[in-house]
Amino acid sequence: MILAIDQGTTGSTCLVFDEDGELAGRAYREFRQHFPQPGWVEHDARELWEVTRDVALEALDDAGVPEGGLRAVGITNQRETVCVWDPDTGQPLHRALVWQDRRTAARCDELREAGHEPLIRERTGLVIDPYFSGTKIAWLLEHVDGLRERAAAGRAKFGTVDSWLIHNLCGEHVTDASNASRTLLANLHTGDWDDELLSLFGDIPRAALPEIRPSIGELGRIAEDALPGFGGVPVSGVAGDQQAALYGQACLDPGLGKNTYGTGSFVLMNTGDAPPAPAEGLLSTVAWRIGQRTQYALEASIFVTGAAVQWLRDGLGLIEVAAETEPLAASLQSNDGVYFVPALTGLGSPHWDPYARGTIVGLTRGASRAHLARATLEAIAYQAVDAVRAMETSGAPRLAELRVDGGATVNAWLMQFQADVLGVPVVVPHIHETTALGAARLAGVGCGLWTQTDVQRGWREEARYEPRMSADEREALLHGWHRAVDRARG
Ligand code: G3P
Repeated sequence: MILAIDQGTTGSTCLVFDEDGELAGRAYREFRQHFPQPGWVEHDARELWEVTRDVALEALDDAGVPEGGLRAVGITNQRETVCVWDPDTGQPLHRALVWQDRRTAARCDELREAGHEPLIRERTGLVIDPYFSGTKIAWLLEHVDGLRERAAAGRAKFGTVDSWLIHNLCGEHVTDASNASRTLLANLHTGDWDDELLSLFGDIPRAALPEIRPSIGELGRIAEDALPGFGGVPVSGVAGDQQAALYGQACLDPGLGKNTYGTGSFVLMNTGDAPPAPAEGLLSTVAWRIGQRTQYALEASIFVTGAAVQWLRDGLGLIEVAAETEPLAASLQSNDGVYFVPALTGLGSPHWDPYARGTIVGLTRGASRAHLARATLEAIAYQAVDAVRAMETSGAPRLAELRVDGGATVNAWLMQFQADVLGVPVVVPHIHETTALGAARLAGVGCGLWTQTDVQRGWREEARYEPRMSADEREALLHGWHRAVDRARG
């Protein structure tokens, strides 16, 4: 059995897979979100660990894994989020700053105005945006009393969520190459922390950062008191959640791509063994490092998709459950010109505008909650189209199909609309929780249970949506969408 830990933005999912890669047990729990000021998003790192540990034990119990029956652990996680802790006591020194947190937007403007963007883009493959870890670490060093001195004295450690979990599970201070590639501090070409970038982001001491390791292979062994009954089991696969989903979707060869629909959506395309040149509106990122071999991906990070449906439910009270959006959208023949740009935390790819805000256009007296539900689902699909088109414009191969996963894939109306506006088939695999599956696959390969061929063979198609819309209709809808996006820009 393999345990996959998927520590996400709103909750922790743990799945147990058997040796055939089939699901044997599961557990899930949410944890608290903290919004201390508008635009700020924090997690209590201690709670995040405790919830994850409890969920892991529950999933192992659900699968009936006996002591000694666990072969390996795989970890995947919300990326970019920064944790800081005291290595002696293991206590967090501040709440984790979450990837959605926009508090460093002004600092990002300063860096851009000072002309640092070309260097950062070339070295990291990323853009200057509060989304990434670099300015978050700089903010902590500047604002948490005594933290700079502590860090200099080796009494504070930083890490993304994978590092925090591995610290708690195994007592090691390590990260994997895919998570490191999301910090703005790692050099995409050398695969190591970059001294010039460390100094640019507020003199971050290298010793306060984790060691960067391959995504596959032993990153630590579980301590008995962390997961009682499972001490000594290796953590043998680690990757950021979107990279893990790419792996779980068996997109192991260049030109294969996936979209994961969660809080946001993340479209990644495998680009092979060389870092892709910076592409307009997109990120170049490490997909995974296996031994000495690093594979790369082009990524479009879309910040708000599923979260927009949540907002219809919790912010507006328009629906009681997300599933209601499907019949509501289908109840209309057309969107009647109503568009919703869910820029609720600014816009990521391909616009990168932290000041954009949510915008609804085209309302008339005839507009109903069905129009808003439909506009929300349509927006989820249009944003993926913008992502894929940006990839094509950058010279990436045209996708033959889009593999999809995540919560929204159960919405058949949305999946059909996605295929229609994208103009290529949309394919859902038989295991929907591809992110956790990817972590399990990485760990399974890492401990020698599976080979890459097993990963490829284990991927099976469950549903396929063929595009049915005419090109004219598609372009008219996208035209309306892009006009709405222009109005949402900050
Ligand atoms: O880059 C952010 C991403 O890793 C978050 O994913 O699924 O936790 O919303 P998710």
